[in-house]
Amino acid sequence: MMNRAIQSILGFGLYSVFCSTLFAADIVAGERKATACFSCHGQEGNSTNPLVPTLAGQQAAYLTAQITAYRDNKRTNPIMPSQVKNLSDSDIIDVAAYFTGRKMKSTGGNATLAAQGASKAGQCSGCHTASFAGRGMIPKLSGQHAAYLVKQLQSFKAGTRKSGPMQAISANLSDTDMDQLAAYLGTL
Ligand code: HEC
Ligand code: HEC
Repeated sequence: MMNRAIQSILGFGLYSVFCSTLFAADIVAGERKATACFSCHGQEGNSTNPLVPTLAGQQAAYLTAQITAYRDNKRTNPIMPSQVKNLSDSDIIDVAAYFTGRKMKSTGGNATLAAQGASKAGQCSGCHTASFAGRGMIPKLSGQHAAYLVKQLQSFKAGTRKSGPMQAISANLSDTDMDQLAAYLGTL
């Protein structure tokens, strides 16, 4: 009886330690570390540069994975790896949690192109969700800068950015499809 009680207390203790290591994000610490990102990604992660993505409101799991990929030189870019090379795994979780909790300001997009893109976006919603807010490791696309989205679609197609599903999907998109889809997503 006594053994059982001790075992379950110990078990619970280990479980709590496990959970806090995996899931606890310190948003206050995250904000402190994130200020280094504002010069490019904008105040609170709302970027005003069309080739720099807005991070505010982006999915936490996706942000964590991308920052880690830059740090570990798995996603290549001339600028980003050096920006995050000193972040530990827990720094990355904190920074991601901070940006996820910020409110995204939609960047907008060309209205004529957006109207043309609307009819083509159905093929994307199965993964990116009907509102294009994303889920977990699948990024939010709604409100993102159109020029940034086009650049990513071109990189997937050229194979310079690697990702399982997006490689095959972008292979079927023309330049016009990409411009229209990105404009539509940007306006959401
Ligand atoms: C000197 C400018 C600059 C700074 C500072 C900077 N970034 Fe970036 N960041 C960029 C650019 C440019 C891109 C787009 C790269 C590309 O086209 O793939 C980017 C892309 C990203 C992405 C990918 C987003 C997505 O939707 O896939 C993440 C995440 C990111 N940055 C996080 C950070 C964090 C966290 C910091 C601060 C620790 C930071 N960045 C600082 C310029 C910067
Ligand atoms: C089978 C699921 C799936 C479908 C369908 C899909 N995507 Fe994706 N998409 C993903 C995943 C997963 C990622 C994250 C890739 C990574 O981890 O680098 C992604 C990433 C992206 C990105 C990069 C965003 C960023 O912030 O850097 C863009 C842009 C994108 N998708 C556009 C589209 C468009 C446009 C369509 C429809 C033509 C589409 N996707 C259909 C799964 C999908």
